[in-house]
Amino acid sequence: MQIATTRDVLRNALAALRGEGGGRIALVPTMGALHEGHLTLVRRAKAEADHVVASIFVNPKQFGPNEDLDAYPRQLAEDAALLEAEGVALLWAPAVEEMYPAGFATSISVAGVSEGLCGAARPGHFDGVATVVAKLFNQVQPDMAFFGEKDFQQLAVIRTMARDLDLALPHVDNIIGVPTVREADGLAMSSRNRYLTPEQREAAAALPHAMRKAIAALEAGAQVAGTLAALEAELLAAGFSGVDYAALADSASLAPLTALGQAPARLLVAARIGGTRLIDNMAVNPAR
Ligand code: PAF
Repeated sequence: MQIATTRDVLRNALAALRGEGGGRIALVPTMGALHEGHLTLVRRAKAEADHVVASIFVNPKQFGPNEDLDAYPRQLAEDAALLEAEGVALLWAPAVEEMYPAGFATSISVAGVSEGLCGAARPGHFDGVATVVAKLFNQVQPDMAFFGEKDFQQLAVIRTMARDLDLALPHVDNIIGVPTVREADGLAMSSRNRYLTPEQREAAAALPHAMRKAIAALEAGAQVAGTLAALEAELLAAGFSGVDYAALADSASLAPLTALGQAPARLLVAARIGGTRLIDNMAVNPAR
């Protein structure tokens, strides 16, 4: 596996890959601190493309001033070994100055789908995500790109950006969402789970459990507002210190729903335990 840390080396490495009889290139963008969820994206990419390019870049533009940019785990050598073992052809791991050289002045903002949920709780977060993902797409020009559904709103933002900007590589239809990978007790895998103390880690399992309970109630016809309030109360009782949101939304537009209709819906939650913010989302079957 080649590791590129400058755009020149990346360009040459991509040209070499494309020269090797061509074939389809898949991109798996990450911020590193890789876990089984990321490796699942790589395996899926490998199954569908001829060459997999992964990126590792802790993107400062998607962190707010009081967020965990400095604390975010960085372990490039360990991550590179994991990616190499999965058969990744090329790792793109630029420094901040390479991604955002002096004078960098552009930001991509996706209205609507970026605005509620995590967008409301983390102002500017999705502008940072859209900007860096647009750059990664332009730098690598992959035929397809893979993202985890754990960041469900992020996936919707990226797809909207790709559609609105008529991106060709990858085309919006080739931006592929991969189902969330979970620990044995149901907690969604996340690089931020490593911030949890053993007690917090145990309590965190209440998040998927309470969500499954809420989904069962909604699918059985329970009223939305009351079910979401009960879900929040259950998380606080389990040791969460706050709930940024617990929402039922249309799966495509992420517009809030006050009742379960015929369209696919999603339950999305962001909650804090100690200093750590956890997010999760699950499908809710439409009303019968
Ligand atoms: O999901 C992530 O790891 C990041 O938000 C992404 C898509 C790599 C952009 O920095």
